[in-house]
Amino acid sequence: MKRTFYLTSLFSILSFTLTAQSALIPIETANNALVLHITSSKDLQTIYYGRRLSDTTEYTLVPAAYRQPGDPSGLFNSAYTPSGSRNLIEPAISVTHADGNYSLDLRFVSQQVTRISDDVSQVAILLKDPVYDFEVTLYYKSYYKEDVIEQWSAIRHHEKGNVILHKYASANLHLQAESYWLRQYHGDWAKEMQPEEARLTHGIKTLDSKLGARADLYQPPVFMVSLNKPATEDEGTVLYGGVEWSGNFRIDLEVDPQDNLRILAGINNYASPYTLAPNEVFATPPCWYSLSDKGKGDASRKVQRWARDHKLLDGKGARLTLLNNWESTYFDFNEARLAELLKDTKKLGVDLFLLDDGWFANKYPRNDDHAGLGDWQPNRSKLPNGITSLVKEAQTDGVKFGIWVEPEMVNPKSELYEQHPDWVVKQAKREEHYFRNQLVLDLTNPKVQDFVYGVVDNLFTQNPALAYIKWDCNAVMYNAASATLKDQSHFYVDYVHGLYKVLERLRAKYPKVPMMLCSGGGGRVDYGALQYFSEYWPSDNTDPLERIFIQWEYSYFYPAIASSNHVTDWGKQPLKFRTDVAMMGKLGFDIVVSKLSPNDLQYVTSAVNTYNTIKDLVWQGDQYRLSNPSDNSVASILYMDEGKSRGVVFSYLVNARYGAGSPLPIRLKGLDPAKKYHIREIDLYPGVASSLEKGKVYSGDFLMKVGINPDVHTGRASVVLALNEDK
Ligand code: GLA
Repeated sequence: MKRTFYLTSLFSILSFTLTAQSALIPIETANNALVLHITSSKDLQTIYYGRRLSDTTEYTLVPAAYRQPGDPSGLFNSAYTPSGSRNLIEPAISVTHADGNYSLDLRFVSQQVTRISDDVSQVAILLKDPVYDFEVTLYYKSYYKEDVIEQWSAIRHHEKGNVILHKYASANLHLQAESYWLRQYHGDWAKEMQPEEARLTHGIKTLDSKLGARADLYQPPVFMVSLNKPATEDEGTVLYGGVEWSGNFRIDLEVDPQDNLRILAGINNYASPYTLAPNEVFATPPCWYSLSDKGKGDASRKVQRWARDHKLLDGKGARLTLLNNWESTYFDFNEARLAELLKDTKKLGVDLFLLDDGWFANKYPRNDDHAGLGDWQPNRSKLPNGITSLVKEAQTDGVKFGIWVEPEMVNPKSELYEQHPDWVVKQAKREEHYFRNQLVLDLTNPKVQDFVYGVVDNLFTQNPALAYIKWDCNAVMYNAASATLKDQSHFYVDYVHGLYKVLERLRAKYPKVPMMLCSGGGGRVDYGALQYFSEYWPSDNTDPLERIFIQWEYSYFYPAIASSNHVTDWGKQPLKFRTDVAMMGKLGFDIVVSKLSPNDLQYVTSAVNTYNTIKDLVWQGDQYRLSNPSDNSVASILYMDEGKSRGVVFSYLVNARYGAGSPLPIRLKGLDPAKKYHIREIDLYPGVASSLEKGKVYSGDFLMKVGINPDVHTGRASVVLALNEDK
C-alpha cells in the first residue's frame, strides 16, 4: 500500500518539477529518503539523506534551510562527481577520452523507476557529458522495509576509440551534520574486526585494500558513520555501509569546504586504469548503505534482515552443524583416523564431518603448507581409497561429509606449478615472493577459471553426496600480473570478475550446497562474495574471549546465521563457555571428541541438542546487543523471534579482575511489554544447578525496564537464558 503511495507521489513530483525546470528524485524507504535534485543546468545533486518527510514536495525546501559557505563549483554535492571540468574536490569518476582529453562533465538526461517487488525498487538515472559521447547510468536499488540502498554505476561511451577510466566509484554520498564520527576496522591474521572510532576532520580519510586476494586481511570494506555525536546502541543517527567487492576496495570519506561529508566508495583504482572500448559497459559493484536514527542496534537489525532476505546465499534456509578436523589433526591423518572422526561426528550429534586441509597431492604431498596446493587428487598414502570411500563411510555412519579446498592457490612445489607456470600471478622478470608459501592463480585467464571450477565440480561429480565445501583463500597478491591478460592494469579488477564467474557457474549447477567463505580467517567477508556462500569464517582466532569481541563487531554488518563459530581448544575458558560463544552463530566443533572426559562429552552432546532448540532464534531472530564487552565486565546479547514470544540471552564474563561480574540486572530489549515471559537457564554443565530461581515469570515491561540478572561471576562465567512467553 505504502509503496503504491510512494510511486504515485513520485510521479506527481516529477510533473511538478518538470514545469519548474528542475526536478527531484526522492528514493524513499520506510523511514528515510535520499533525495536527488536536478538543477536547471541539469547537474544531479544530493540535497537530502535523512528521515523521510510526510510531504514529499517539501524536499525542495531543504537546500535553502542550510546557510553554509558557498560552493563556486556547484559540484560539492554532486550525486556522481566528475573530474577535470568544474570539480575542485575528490571525484567519483575520472577519465581520459579517446582524443586524449581528460575532462568530464555529467548532466542529467533521463530516469527510469522500476518496481521489482513490493519491497524492492530501482531507479536508473542516465547522465551524459554534453561535449563527449560518454555516459554514466547511476543505479539506486532500494529495499523499502529494511531501509537499505544499494548503489552502483554503469559507464559507457561511443567515442571514436578507447577511453581510459582512472577512477570509477560505485557510490557518491553527501551528508550534512555538525560532526561525523567514523567507526572503522583494521586487523590481521587472528585479529579481525578491530574497531577504532574517531571524529572525521577536514580532508580525506581513506579506507582501502591493495592486497588483491584475501583483500580484507588488514581492513574490511565496511564502516559506519554517526552524525552529530557517536551513536550508541539505541540512540543517534548512524549510517552503515560497505562495498560488495571481493578485491581491492576504496572508501574515501571527505569532509568538504562546506563542512559536509562526502563518501565515495567502490573498487580501488590503485594500479587499475581501465580501458573501455566504444559501446562496452563497465559496471561497478554495488555499494550498500543503511541509515538509522535509532542507533547502531536498529541499523544492524535492518542490515541483518536485508542480508538474510536478499543477499546471503540461502539466508532463510537451514545450516549444518559440524565437526571439523583442522585443529585436532592438522595435516596428520589417514583413513583410520578419519573413520574414528566420522564416528565421533555421530557421537557428538552434529550433522556433518568437515575434512580440512591435507587430503590431496601425491608428487608433492600436502603434509604441511609448503607443498601440494593445486594438485587436487586425494593423497594415496593417506587416503588409498580416495574421497569417495570416505563420503560413503560417512553415509553409513549417518552423517554428511564436507571438504576443504583452496582452489585459487598454488604452491610452487606442486605439479600444477610445474605444468602451468603461466597460470600463476607473478612478474615474469622478478623474483617470486610468497605468502604462506604459496602464490595466487591467475583467474583473469579463462583456462584458469575452468580449472578452478573443475576442482569443485569434479568433487561433486565424483561424490554426489558431498554436502559442504569450505573454500579457503590464504594468500595476498604480490607481483600482481598475468601472463595472458592483454591489459595488465585490468588485472586486479578482472581477477575478481574471474572469481565471480567461477562462483556463478558453480551456483548455476549447485544452487544451494552450503559453502563456507574462508580466507585464512576473515580475509574475504563482503556481500559480493556472500551471494555465493552460505556462511563465512570470521577468524582463525577461536579463543572464545576474543571471539566475543570479533563476533560482536561483525554482527553490526552481518547476520549470525552466516557466522561459522567453532568450539576449539583455543583460550583458557571451560568447554561450556567456548560452546556458548560458538552457539551465537552457526555452531561447529574442532576438538578431539575421543579425549573428552565423560562429563565434557555429556555436556557437548546435550549442548548440540540445546542448540537445535534455539538455532532458529539465532539464525532468523532479531539480535539485540544488551551489554557491550568493551565497556562492561559482562557481554550480553539477545536473539528474539519476530513474534516476540521466544528468545535466548547469552551472557559472558569478559573481565578476570577480582569481584567482576553482573552486579546490575541486564535490561532486555525488543520484548512485548504486555507479555509475560518465563525465564529458564539452559545449557548447564552436568551436575551444575542454576543459581537463578526456577519457574520465575516476568512481564516484558519489567524485563525491559528493570532487567534480569544472569548472575555472572567467575564461578558462572557463561550463562544462557531461554525466554518463553508464558501463556
Ligand atoms: C586457513 C583456515 C583454517 C584452516 C587452514 C588450513 O588458515 O583459516 O581454518 O582451514 O587454512 O590450512
